[in-house]
Amino acid sequence: MTEKYRPNLHFSPRAGWMNDPNGMIRKDGVWHLFFQHDPDSIVHGPMHWGHATSTDLVHWDEQPIALFPTDLGTCFSGSAIETDDGVKLFYTAHSRTPAGEDYQVQCLVHADADIGAFESDGANPVVPNPGLTAFRDPKVIWHAASGKWVMLVTEGQSIGFYGSTDLKSWTHLSSFGESHGRHSEGPWECPDMVPLTAADGSVVWVLIVGLNPGGYALGSGTQYFLGQFDGTSFTNANAPETELWLDYGRDYYAAQTFFERGGTETPVAIAWASNWLYARQTRTAAFRGVMSLPRQLRLVDTPDGLRVACRVPAVAEAGIAEAGLPGTKRTDLMADLEVGEELVITLFGEREPSFVVRRASVGRGSIRTIRHALDGLDHFAHDYAVDLPWPENGMLDLTVYVDRGLVELSAADGLVWITNLFFPADPEAPLAVGLLEPANA
Ligand code: FRU
Repeated sequence: MTEKYRPNLHFSPRAGWMNDPNGMIRKDGVWHLFFQHDPDSIVHGPMHWGHATSTDLVHWDEQPIALFPTDLGTCFSGSAIETDDGVKLFYTAHSRTPAGEDYQVQCLVHADADIGAFESDGANPVVPNPGLTAFRDPKVIWHAASGKWVMLVTEGQSIGFYGSTDLKSWTHLSSFGESHGRHSEGPWECPDMVPLTAADGSVVWVLIVGLNPGGYALGSGTQYFLGQFDGTSFTNANAPETELWLDYGRDYYAAQTFFERGGTETPVAIAWASNWLYARQTRTAAFRGVMSLPRQLRLVDTPDGLRVACRVPAVAEAGIAEAGLPGTKRTDLMADLEVGEELVITLFGEREPSFVVRRASVGRGSIRTIRHALDGLDHFAHDYAVDLPWPENGMLDLTVYVDRGLVELSAADGLVWITNLFFPADPEAPLAVGLLEPANA
């Protein structure tokens, strides 16, 4: 397990390919993470569901493969729930039509009491294809107020909502998407939805949607919407053109939250830390694909309105502090800047900075994020800035998690996250911080 870019604090598969997190569920204190997996190659091949478990979201034990391709197709992304009758998985069976087009249907799987053996339901597919090329990534949630299960699913460039009380017979309720948020030529993938409680006690639903291509920073990106869900349809609380992003980096995709029976006020999400632009070309050998750190979602009031902010949950911070491994570090910084000043963060002993934090005015700032081209990785270079409100006390807090080349920067108590993969010459070199005075000072 000693490959140069094998992370210590983040899950990566022992061998083979990994993309989206799937079937995330917490049961009896154990966090189960399933994932898109091809055990036989390090490119995206016939999808299986890999499986890993953890008690602190940092140290993971890889389990035997959970789902294998069947005559219905390979196993694309999906989710997990717990009922009186145990844990159930939902996934998309993916096959091709004689003309070579994608054909996708939703399937139900029953797990045994140990979540170690899996049996396909005889009624599969439980949701047939309604005539869509992109019809995938079922995320099932319990909607207590209407006493039913709700499935969110990719419907081309929108999200479909289905309802069921028995998990086998599903009724289409509504669709959300057209003219809201960001669209591009790609589908709206890997939806999720959780209720969060705002400071004033009101409940706001957060709808998470993957977009590929068309993300904030090119390629794959994760946007979200805030609004209400009444058991039938989702209503956006913001103007349709509002774009909100769970992460502003290049490598945070297909985020999903853990299901917890009885619900949770503090949902935890994990995403795939890569981008379809170059995911198949990253510089690892035995495996390819790593997950993000776990992040707990909460609502915060900002000068721009209500937003989602994220923090690494306490249980994971404890695991990170304990790890103390080479190339693996959490650094806390305070950007105590005058207007016009910049803080420069340089990673991996490189000559040029990866982040430039700037206080643009009393109340606003920006984080410029820079990554250089790498041979063999398409569209890897970037240089763009993320705008953010500057805290009223004048100081912007920053936390940088570095793990063997995977870098997650959080600012303003987790209001802004930037997740980027690097493949540096020396992934174990420490980061350096410098202050730049305004040019005209
Ligand atoms: C997102 C995605 C999903 C699909 C899966 C296939 O990264 O394209 O929409 O189910 O990957 O592996």
